[in-house]
Amino acid sequence: ALRGVVAMDGPSGTGKSTVSRRLAQACSAAYLDTGAMYRAATLAALRAGLGEGATEDEIARAAIGARLESGTDPVAPTITLDGEDVSGPIRGPEVTGFVSAVSAVPQVRAEMVARQHALIRAAVGSGGGMVVEGRDIGTVVVPDAPLKVYLTASPEVRAARRGRQDEKAGRKADLHVTLADVERRDRLDSSRRVSPLYAAADALVLDTDRLSADAVLAKLRELVSARG
Ligand code: C5P
Repeated sequence: ALRGVVAMDGPSGTGKSTVSRRLAQACSAAYLDTGAMYRAATLAALRAGLGEGATEDEIARAAIGARLESGTDPVAPTITLDGEDVSGPIRGPEVTGFVSAVSAVPQVRAEMVARQHALIRAAVGSGGGMVVEGRDIGTVVVPDAPLKVYLTASPEVRAARRGRQDEKAGRKADLHVTLADVERRDRLDSSRRVSPLYAAADALVLDTDRLSADAVLAKLRELVSARG
């Protein structure tokens, strides 16, 4: 069994969510998808009538006031907004198009990181383990995590993976649009002032262009068991 936190970072379309969930299951650990938290906060902002022209203060008020609950079971991850299961809507194009703007607001990040710390404390405080995935887990949220992994892949491979995921979920997918969105979010997430996306100096960087999810998982399980 896993003890403590495994920090899983990287851009979208690297297979991060698949691998993180499977690793948590394999190690009887809890699982936290911090991207889902920023997405649900974004949905709250959209439902409050906010969009591209909104000020940081308006976004912060809507996102921080939102009543979010994140489940930490890797078999069935759930996220609710005001008691409603929003796992579907948070993957839609409206949220995906606005989430980088919401997650760049410093007050929103401070609030989400505080909530993440509470969930992590609850899971690992009593000797348990948790796989936490996001963009800033190894750099900001849990800088002392004993195992940090940073998954990468070329934008083309990541867009193709996103497209397959969208199709499976019944969402229309146009590869050009998906690639443009992947590149736009990379740019915004990597260049923001607060907690930009980058690999921690002590993270293991895995390029997944030619690695299947199974191969990545096998590698990570090895690393976890090597740490005892
Ligand atoms: O991982 P996912 O694609 O669901 O994340 C959605 C967005 O949430 C990212 O593009 C990023 O803007 C934001 N995010 C973040 N910090 C995290 C996790 C996600 O800023 N730890």
